[in-house]
Amino acid sequence: MYTQSLDVPDGSAPALTAVGAAPDALQTRFDEKIDADQKIEPQDWMPEAYRRTLVRQISQHAHSEIIGMQPEGNWISRAPSLKRKAILLAKVQDEGGHGLYLYSAAETLGVGRDSLLDALHTGKAKYSSIFNYPTLLWADVGVIGWLVDGAAIMNQVPICRCSYGPYARAMIRICKEESFHQRQGFESLMVQMQGTAEQRAMVQDAVNRWWWPVLAMFGPPDAASTNTAQGMRWGIKRISNDDLRQKFVDATVPQAAVLGVTLPDPDLKWNEDRQQHDYGAIDWDEFWEVVNGNGPCNKERLANRVKAHEDGQWVRDAAQAHAAKQRARQLKEAA
Ligand SMILES: [Fe+2]
Ligand SMILES: [Fe+2]
Repeated sequence: MYTQSLDVPDGSAPALTAVGAAPDALQTRFDEKIDADQKIEPQDWMPEAYRRTLVRQISQHAHSEIIGMQPEGNWISRAPSLKRKAILLAKVQDEGGHGLYLYSAAETLGVGRDSLLDALHTGKAKYSSIFNYPTLLWADVGVIGWLVDGAAIMNQVPICRCSYGPYARAMIRICKEESFHQRQGFESLMVQMQGTAEQRAMVQDAVNRWWWPVLAMFGPPDAASTNTAQGMRWGIKRISNDDLRQKFVDATVPQAAVLGVTLPDPDLKWNEDRQQHDYGAIDWDEFWEVVNGNGPCNKERLANRVKAHEDGQWVRDAAQAHAAKQRARQLKEAA
């Protein structure tokens, strides 16, 4: 899961080899490819700003997938049945896999994974603000699948057409898996809504807490989004934040009706003229507070991530020792 709200400036952009003024022919060739909707591949010349933007966006996306394992991972040991535990395990594992594809895609742009992880672990890099909210109830797991993964799909399907080949190709597989995530969440909530009054109240409580942070996932309003125009020009971003948010609201309202939950917005109503839903004002102050490290779980998420990385040091050491031994054996055999 991921949102483009994360394409915000941070201190993580790794230093890349300075590239002087591009020969006009290279820039022209790049522009022609973008205009013709062709893919830019790692070996192709690209403007330094395009490369940096992609490194920032893809690495923030990767970080979001990895940090995003935590809120739901909290519930693996407390899932109410073997079936729900198996589904949740598979989903959280998928998110880890998404992170790995995306770190690999970022590496094709000439940055090392160590530097990307270092930026995350030192708090310089951003990740999706949504994962800094706590999962208080079992219903939160279903709501994350339905709404958070649902928002991620809305955001990520257009990235399958991103101009940068490795990112676009990674997104195709990721989107297929996100679709399963969204459906399992909705199905879990359907079952709970057919249960007891307490279960229905639990689902409604979770929806009330997640709805507004999910709408903020699409990022700042277009008028305040400085990266949008250039991202569109480069074919990195295809649909604006506000348009994606509107599509999500319009798709989700009928789903909420099927579930029998109320979306916590008194201003949410169908607008006959626009043929879209109107919705209330989003609290952007809260969004920026959370993005800037002051959400309910920021410190806990980062501390868990750093600990997991340190605990895994012996695995990386063992893998490198094994690779060194194999290289030595191959050299000996070749000699
Ligand atoms: Fe997901
Ligand atoms: Fe994901």
